[in-house]
Amino acid sequence: MNELEQLVHSARADFDAATTPADLENAKARYLGKSGRLTDLLKGLAALPPEEKKTRGAAINEAKQQVEALLNARRQALADAELERQLRAEALDVSLPGRRRGVAGLHPVTRAMERIEAIFGSMGFEVADGPEIESDWFNFTALNTPQDHPARSMHDTFYVEGGHLLRTHTSPMQIRHAVQHVKRHEARLASGLPMPDIRVIAPGRTYRVDSDATHSPMFHQVEGLWVGQNVSFKDLKAVYVNFLQEFFETTDIRIRFRPSYFPFTEPSAEIDMMFGSGPLKGRWLEVSGSGQVHPQVIRNMGLDPERYIGFAFGSGIDRLAMLRYGVNDLRLFFEGDLRFLSQFR
Ligand code: PHE
Repeated sequence: MNELEQLVHSARADFDAATTPADLENAKARYLGKSGRLTDLLKGLAALPPEEKKTRGAAINEAKQQVEALLNARRQALADAELERQLRAEALDVSLPGRRRGVAGLHPVTRAMERIEAIFGSMGFEVADGPEIESDWFNFTALNTPQDHPARSMHDTFYVEGGHLLRTHTSPMQIRHAVQHVKRHEARLASGLPMPDIRVIAPGRTYRVDSDATHSPMFHQVEGLWVGQNVSFKDLKAVYVNFLQEFFETTDIRIRFRPSYFPFTEPSAEIDMMFGSGPLKGRWLEVSGSGQVHPQVIRNMGLDPERYIGFAFGSGIDRLAMLRYGVNDLRLFFEGDLRFLSQFR
């Protein structure tokens, strides 16, 4: 290896050893700088005779070009490595699952409630809403269930301060709505004119101390009330059959009234229904309490029981939703498990 080849060789080793651009520029100075080795060699040419100058000059220039090429290659390599490092540092892990936007849907009980409102709405029923924290008067006493009435024990509930309680049924809405309705038509009533019928449903949350596969401490009911001067059980039956047929989208349904007892209706009946086909075919299913509004309740509404008569019913919405969607455990509705709920999107 001659002197120039050795110089190129050592330049390559120095450049390769430089791991940063600053190191590389220092190495470059040692060869190509003002007093670098190649620069010194070129300066030395001046002292040579013309013939030698030419061949020696060409050889040095060739070595210089090689060193410059090595320098450029190393510069590029360092720049590439830096870029690579940056890219790796900023890399996105595309294998991570993205954040998906969930598709929302209405809760099955809400859907059932909306259906119920639409169906009764189409039959001319208003929809009313009222407080879940209720007074003793509206929840019991006004509904002909005084303090020591045995029926109260079936309605054990959650009591809050001030003698209020979480309503045990939607029936207090019968009184609340009727009283308002009567007030709205006070003038007509005072002059002996008939009042437009009270026709209302009141869906909402209700509470009792009860918990198993078919009972939840919080559940949903829908109250129905129709009071007028000529309203009978026949109207109740027509309304309720029509409701069930619309709700379950089949006319293949039978209903029966089974004698029962509620303090606020007389006579009282449980409404049972039976599907003529499908998985529940042939079984009587209890869906509602009902009855003719008790004269004392009519009086508490501010009406004369000699002139006004009507019926009321109170149905379990969760029960209706379970039948409609084929759900066999009520608790599924309230656990908030998306695997269950997303089936209703
Ligand atoms: N409120 C009664 C219950 O919760 C149901 C009912 C309502 C019965 C209206 C008759 C009339 O059991």
